[in-house]
Amino acid sequence: MHIAIIMDGNGRWAKAQGKNRTEGHKIGAKVVKDITTYCSNNEEIKYLTLYAFSTENWKRPKLEVEFLMKLLDNWLKKELETYIKNEVKFEVIGDISKFSKKLQNRIKETKEKTKNFNRLTQVLALNYGSRDEITRAIKRLCDKNEEITEENISKNLDTGINNIPDVDLLIRTSGEVRLSNYLLWQVAYAEMFFTPTLWPDFTPQELNNIIQDFKKRERRFGGI
Ligand code: FPP
Repeated sequence: MHIAIIMDGNGRWAKAQGKNRTEGHKIGAKVVKDITTYCSNNEEIKYLTLYAFSTENWKRPKLEVEFLMKLLDNWLKKELETYIKNEVKFEVIGDISKFSKKLQNRIKETKEKTKNFNRLTQVLALNYGSRDEITRAIKRLCDKNEEITEENISKNLDTGINNIPDVDLLIRTSGEVRLSNYLLWQVAYAEMFFTPTLWPDFTPQELNNIIQDFKKRERRFGGI
């Protein structure tokens, strides 16, 4: 099973506590750890894709963008041992060429050191936007002079290149009901769940409840 999550509401959570937005992101990172650990211990879940930074997030105040970059770098440095302990493979989708060389190297190193694990693949969507991803996939096909087919487009998306399958279950926290340019191609047949819980308050228990609901839904993939 592939679960994809739009982790929304860090800013509102912080505001409600009278704290700076960055405090919300810090707690959000702790929740990423709890949810990833839960998924690595659930044999049915093989892929967890988290929207950590979108192609639109560059529009945020410079200080917040810098904070998120630094948080990510520190997090990968500190959490490498958790990836190893839980046998989690780390992958990335999105165009990371816009990130600092230091962060790009950290990402490369984390991927390299976890590449043989297969309990769970945790995918971070970084400088990710679905339209950007689809556009880059089509450019690749044109460059290689390959036929434009659904199969070839799928294979040339960032997910396809990294052998990440389509999404089964999409969750968005914080009560917003939209996809925000996330995995548009890959959610074609996904079941979607929207919860009012803000990301810093999201728990493995709530995820487990959503998974139980998901299992009750009948997926027909266009059939009857
Ligand atoms: C959405 O909340 C969250 C983000 C744009 C960033 C997601 C980042 C994290 C969960 C923490 C860092 C992640 C890792 C992997 C270390 P928002 O800021 O849009 O909240 P708001 O809509 O309430 O303002």
